[in-house]
Formats: sequence, C-alpha cells, structure tokens
Amino acid sequence: IPGRREGARSLTLDNPVIAASGTFGSGREYGEYLDLNQLGGIAVKGLTPEPREGNPLPRIVETPMGMLNSIGLQNPGLEGFIKEEMPFLRTYETAVIANISGNTVAEFTAMATRLESVPGIHGLEVNVSCPNIHRGGEVFATNPEMVQTITEEVVKVTTLPVIVKLSPNVTDIGLIAQSAEAGGADAVSLINTVLGMAIDIKTRQPVLKRVMGGLSGPAVKPIALRQVWQVYQAVKIPIIGMGGIMTAEDALEFLMAGAAAVSVGTGNFVNPTACIDVAEGINAYMEKHGLHRVSELTGAAHKQ
Ligand code: DOR
Repeated sequence: IPGRREGARSLTLDNPVIAASGTFGSGREYGEYLDLNQLGGIAVKGLTPEPREGNPLPRIVETPMGMLNSIGLQNPGLEGFIKEEMPFLRTYETAVIANISGNTVAEFTAMATRLESVPGIHGLEVNVSCPNIHRGGEVFATNPEMVQTITEEVVKVTTLPVIVKLSPNVTDIGLIAQSAEAGGADAVSLINTVLGMAIDIKTRQPVLKRVMGGLSGPAVKPIALRQVWQVYQAVKIPIIGMGGIMTAEDALEFLMAGAAAVSVGTGNFVNPTACIDVAEGINAYMEKHGLHRVSELTGAAHKQ
C-alpha cells in the first residue's frame, strides 16, 4: 500500500494474509499456535481512548454458517495497548496495523496522533463501521460525508498508511469507498460484520443481550465478495478484502474480485492456523500457474 500524501509511509506485507481485527486480540493468544512472523500482518483488536469492558453477555452466538458478535469494543484502551501489548508485538517482524475505533472525530484524531510516535506500528485501520456502538443509531460508515471528514482529519495528523474499514450495512458501498478515497485514504478494508440476530426458541428471547450483532464467517462471504467487486470498480486505492475467508480458495476469489490483500477473521476460531494455511495455498496456486506477484491476481475476474 503506497502512501498517497507527501511524506506518508507505505505498507509492505511479506505475504497477502492479515489476521483480521478482533480475532487475534493483540496476537499473544495465538502465539502458541503459530509463528506470528509467518503472518502478512496483524490488525489488532479495535482500540478506544479509554479501556472498555464491552457490552453485557451473552455477546457471542454461533450459528451453523457463521458467528454473531455484539462485543462492543472490549479493549485495554490506547495507553494500555501501547504499554502492555506493543513490547510483545515489536519482537516480531509482522506488520502491526492498529485498528482505531473512535466515537467522535476528535477521538479518531487523538488516537492517530498518539500512535504516530509509537515504534512498531505499520498502519492505521480507521474503524468507522463497528455495528455494536450506539451513537444515536448512526454508524459513521453509513454516512459518506462523515467518512470523508474522519478520513481527512486522520490523514492530517499521521504519516502512517490509513486504511478505512467499511461497513456492509449500506446501500452503495462504492459511494462510501469513494468518500474514503476523496478524504485521502491510502486503502480501504471490507467488510466489517453484517447486522443480524438469533432467537432462542426455548426462552422465546433474542440470544444476544443487545439483541443485534455482527454476523461473520461463511454466511457473509458472497456479500463481501460482491462488495469487494463493487469497490474495485469505484476506486483506485488498494482493497483489503475479508468476510468468511476460511480457505485459500476463498481468498483467491477475493483477490480476483479486486483485493490486493485479504484478512482472515472468524476462520481463525475454527482453525488457529487458518492465516498460514491460506497464505500457503495462495502461494501453491501462484506457483502452479506461473504467477510471481499477487497483483497479477488482483481484479483478474474483471478482465475478460
Ligand atoms: O463486528 C464487530 N464487532 N465489528 C467491530 O468493528 C467491532 C466489534 C465489537 O467489538 O463489537
């Protein structure tokens, strides 16, 4: 991901597979299952200025095709993350992408400003799309002007590559991606989770305490793939594609739809080495077909 503005840093990944935000914590929990150096990147759990306990339980539901969550951004707060998690993450070569989940424009810019001087951060994922924080019903990512404003304000205060994370819960995701691009984003990542719910027929009540949550996993893959396809046609900046990627074959579809790199989220819960398996499978496909760069696959399905 090349930095678009004057003086901006670029983001280079050793392989195109990133552990999606919210699924690896800050990496420590997964360190015993795999060598974090083998990941292309790790997007850490969404950070807020202050520590948060998140929403009341139950806040996770498994369904046959995916998972619902209404976590509500449980995290140690920005300073807690910098102090407790960064010394560990800095011992690895893997690109660390800090997901910042502000509640106001000022919170986004304050976090971006603080992270500018933290060694070992390689990029910012600006999470305008968390479905579980109630802001009078509005998610920033549904409002093109808000997305552009937040992006403009964040790029002003950072030299880090800025990746804006988009919500699938919109009518025209291409339009929202264009707002991020117009605001100066270096890349977009998509999708965040799809709003859904589950009901317990024994109690006749919603399972999640907060009723609705974000659906992820195989259930959302066709939606995510369609939206990556639409965004590829709408903007020129790179796309990080995600949504139900469980296997290398899934990831290849996202690359062909237009993604420059992919993230694996829910897949990590089913298979702790999913990221590595996906990266190896992409590699095997490329070798088999005589390809040398992932970019040869990006958007391939748009070309006849
Ligand atoms: O599904 C999600 N859950 N997406 C987010 O961006 C945040 C997360 C949470 O903590 O609720």
